[in-house]
Amino acid sequence: MTAEQSTVDVWEALYTTRAMRRMRPEPVPMAVQARIMDAAVRAPSGGDSQGWRFLLVDDPDVRQQLAEPYRESVQLLWRGHYAAQIAGAEADPEAEGSQRFRRLQASVQYLADHFEEVPLLFFAFSRNDRDGSSTFPAVWSAMLAARAQGVGSAMTNVLDIFRPDTTKAVLGVPPDRGWNLAATVAMGYPKGRWDVAARQPAHTVTYRNRWGTEPGFSTPEPLWPPQDGPA
Ligand SMILES: Cc1cc2nc3c(=O)[nH]c(=O)nc-3n(C[C@H](O)[C@H](O)[C@H](O)COP(=O)(O)O)c2cc1C
Repeated sequence: MTAEQSTVDVWEALYTTRAMRRMRPEPVPMAVQARIMDAAVRAPSGGDSQGWRFLLVDDPDVRQQLAEPYRESVQLLWRGHYAAQIAGAEADPEAEGSQRFRRLQASVQYLADHFEEVPLLFFAFSRNDRDGSSTFPAVWSAMLAARAQGVGSAMTNVLDIFRPDTTKAVLGVPPDRGWNLAATVAMGYPKGRWDVAARQPAHTVTYRNRWGTEPGFSTPEPLWPPQDGPA
């Protein structure tokens, strides 16, 4: 696909790049991957250090070796960070918050259960970067470039939290050069539809000049897609 063939403008990409965890099995063509990576490396980094490396995995054998560590990591996530939320959702299953959480949990678990089937895994590594923040603009650019070409993605960070050494060993990352796993992104053509991400409205999480003051605008509904009123 060429840039001219893409019908997704920047606003559509910004509003509809959702976590897509259910993917169709067909591979992501090499030309599409090239465009994703070529866009990603245009991203900013502190001092233009470009202290990143990216590793793309489409080898079924490598995916298979990472699937069990990924599933173990998600289990640790449920038992640790999300334990209270899981208990809360079980205690009050009809509550809207519980249902939202159960949907998220099912989607996250689906990706874990099918990790070896993800057509393309994108790993981002950072170096000389205290918290990996210099690499995240490139990761998000890659996800937007994927979206622009109809490729879905889901950013995950359980492997770097729970199984960084196993992941680096499977991927052959040199252990002594300071490379840290910053993010793992699953990529593939999505089974579902693209829709606008529901979020807390911008004006409820934005202040102006001083913490707690209103920002001076109100966005109760998303501003995209544009609502064409009568001329
Ligand atoms: C830093 C970071 C870590 C994430 N880790 C995971 C993860 O381990 N597993 C997963 O399935 N999704 C993960 N996600 C995806 C989020 O769950 C997702 O972006 C969020 O639920 C919003 O989804 P939506 O855009 O479809 O509304 C992560 C996202 C970010 C930004």
